[in-house]
Amino acid sequence: MNSSRFTRFGFILAAVGSAVGLGNVWKFPYVTGEYGGGAFVLVYLATALFVGVFVLISELLIGKLGRSDAVSMFENLAVRNKKLWKWAGFIVIVPLIILSYYSVVIGWIFHYIAMSFQGLPSTVEQSKDIFMALLTTDVQTQLMYHTIVFVLVTAIILRGIKDGIEKINKILMPLLALILAILFVYSINIDSFSKAVHFMFDPDFSKLTSEAIIVAIGQAFYTLSLGMGIIITYAASLPKEANVVKSSILISIIDTMVAIVAGLIIFTLLFDKGAESTKGAGLVFISLPSVFYEFGSIGSTLALLFFIAIAFAGITSAISMLEPMVSYFMNRFDMSRIKAALICSIFFYVLGIAALLSNISDYSPMLMIGEKGLFDWLDFVCSTILVPIGGILVVVFIGHFMDKETVEGELVPLMGSFLTKVWFFMVRYVIPIALVVVILNETGIFKF
Ligand code: PFF
Ligand code: NA
Repeated sequence: MNSSRFTRFGFILAAVGSAVGLGNVWKFPYVTGEYGGGAFVLVYLATALFVGVFVLISELLIGKLGRSDAVSMFENLAVRNKKLWKWAGFIVIVPLIILSYYSVVIGWIFHYIAMSFQGLPSTVEQSKDIFMALLTTDVQTQLMYHTIVFVLVTAIILRGIKDGIEKINKILMPLLALILAILFVYSINIDSFSKAVHFMFDPDFSKLTSEAIIVAIGQAFYTLSLGMGIIITYAASLPKEANVVKSSILISIIDTMVAIVAGLIIFTLLFDKGAESTKGAGLVFISLPSVFYEFGSIGSTLALLFFIAIAFAGITSAISMLEPMVSYFMNRFDMSRIKAALICSIFFYVLGIAALLSNISDYSPMLMIGEKGLFDWLDFVCSTILVPIGGILVVVFIGHFMDKETVEGELVPLMGSFLTKVWFFMVRYVIPIALVVVILNETGIFKF
C-alpha cells in the first residue's frame, strides 16, 4: 500500500474534491432558498464548522490509525465486539449506491454543457419543458452520458491513489477554483449582488423551523462526505506527518466557502433577472438556464463555465464514492485493482440505468415502489437514512469502542486537553443524539 499514499497536499485536495460536489453547487443553494435564506445559512455554518469538523477529525483519525479498508479498520480498532463492529465497515456500500444516480445527474450536467454551445432556452417554461423531456422521455441521451461518466470514473480509479485520484484532483480542483473565481468576480459587479448577500446572510429567525435545523445537520454530513467510509478510506493513505485537526478544519472551511460562493453567484444571477429562488431541484436545471439566456451574448459563456464547474465538482466526488468499496475488495479478497474496480463500477452503472429508467414515463410503472420511483428512493434512503446511520456508527465507535488512551494520545498534542474533552463529549453524546433526531424527522417517524 505504501507506494500508493497521498502526498499531504494531495490528500487535502482529494478530500476537498470529494466534499465539494453537487451538494455545494446544486443542493445547498436550493435548500437555502427553500428554508428562507439567512437563518438557515447560519445554522448550516454552525453545523458544518462544528459538528462537521468534529466528525471529520473522527474519520481522519480512524483512517490514520487503521490504515486499511473500512471494514478491516472497524474490526481492528475496536477494543471490544470486534466481530460486530466489522459490519459497520459495510457503510462503504452507501457511496456506491449514491454513485449510481449521482452519475446520472453528472450526465445531465454534461448535456447542459453541450446545450450551452447549442443554444439556451429563452423562457422558464421552455427550460422546464426541456429538462422534463430529458428526464422523463430521453433514455438515449441520459444513457450515453451516464456511460461516459462510468468510463471516466472507472479509468481514473484504475490508476490508483496517486496516479489516479490525486492527479485528477490536482488538475480539476484548481480549474474549479479558477472558474468559480471568474463567476464570482462577475457577480460582484452586478447590482443584485447585494440583494443576494442580504438573502443569504440576513437571518430571519421566524423562518427558522426545527425542520430547517434538521435539514442543515443532514446537509452538513452530506456535503462533507461524512458517514460513508469515504474520508476514512482516503485517510488510510494519509502521510504519517499529517495533522488531522488542521486538515479537518481546512477541508470544512473550503467546502463551506465553495457552497457560499456558489450560492452568491446563483442568487445574484437569479435576482438580476427578477427570477425567484425556485423551490427544489429545478434551480440549476430549470431556472438558471433561462436566466443565462437573458444575459444575452455573454450568457452562453457564463452557462458553459458554470456547468463545467459543476461537472468538475461532481467528477471528483464521484471518484471518492467508488474507492472505498474498491479498497475493501482489494484488501479483503486479494483482488487486483482492475478486478475490484470493474466489479464496483459495473454495479453502480447497472443500478444507475435502473434509476434513470425509473424517471422515464414508459418504464416507471415497473420501477415504482409506493409513491416514489427508484431514483428518488435511492436518494431518500441514502441521504436521509443511511448517511446519518453511518455518521452515528463513526462517532459511537470512536467515542466508546476505540482505545481512549490512543485517541487522546493523538488529539491532545494537536488541540490540547480541554478541546479534546469537548470533542469526546460531542462524539459520545451530542452528535449521535442529533443524528437520531435527523433520522426520525426525515423519515417522518417522529416530526420535531
Ligand atoms: N460531498 C458531496 C457533495 O457535497 O456533493 C457528496 C458526496 C460525496 C456524497 C461523496 C457521497 C459521497 F460518497
Ligand atoms: Na459538498
